[in-house]
Amino acid sequence: MDSFSTLIRTASHEEHVEAETSTFMSDMLGGRLGVDAFARYTEQLWFVYEALETSVERLAGDPVAGPFIRPELMRLASLERDLEHLRGPGWRASLSALPATRAYADRVRECAERWPGGYVAHHYTRYLGDLSGGQIIRDKAERTWGFARKGDGVRFYVFEGIPNPAAFKRMYRGLLDAVPADDLEKQRIIAECKAAFALNTGVFRALGEEFPLSA
Ligand code: HEM
Repeated sequence: MDSFSTLIRTASHEEHVEAETSTFMSDMLGGRLGVDAFARYTEQLWFVYEALETSVERLAGDPVAGPFIRPELMRLASLERDLEHLRGPGWRASLSALPATRAYADRVRECAERWPGGYVAHHYTRYLGDLSGGQIIRDKAERTWGFARKGDGVRFYVFEGIPNPAAFKRMYRGLLDAVPADDLEKQRIIAECKAAFALNTGVFRALGEEFPLSA
């Protein structure tokens, strides 16, 4: 039987392609959108990471979610620096979540509070993605809007504490493979991972509506 890390990757492959090829992502990576679209997207990420990272101290002691809680992954401080750069010092006052983002963050918070396995699904979907495709997004953003390489605006994508992402991803897959869950719970985690991708796609859809190419 395949390892859990292989199962979760292959089971979410279709959802990954859908997120990756969403109109908003394609337009953003194609350099067809203004920096305001990137800033709006970064704002939405703030709500998601706020939900992922506010309960980490409590979750660190959980047998299922605990091993995944790693300080070098934490993104909220980087997001806040990026938002200050993108929106200015008043960024917090003008911050607002799209309804799709609210739904995503609410689900993450619910898992963080009540279901460690579900939290792992959301953790995997975001952080392993950020360490992978996130690097492509950073490169594109730097070229399209002229951010300093790995500097303000794209710090979210820079994991200062992870000098070797490939090695870190291998270690992370080992954590997934060692997760103390039976087969049924693993199936539930995989289903939550697909739901997590769908929630991301929902945010992209809403952003695509807010930033249509030919209005
Ligand atoms: C245009 C946007 C995206 C691009 C170009 C992209 C690209 C990639 C690439 C190249 C990998 C493989 C890395 C490797 O095998 O080491 C990857 C993995 C991954 N991506 Fe994306 N991605 C994008 C969007 C997303 C989104 C929106 C999510 C979810 C929120 C996501 C979640 C993941 C996850 C969880 C993995 C790890 C798969 C695994 O090895 O288990 N990606 N991505």
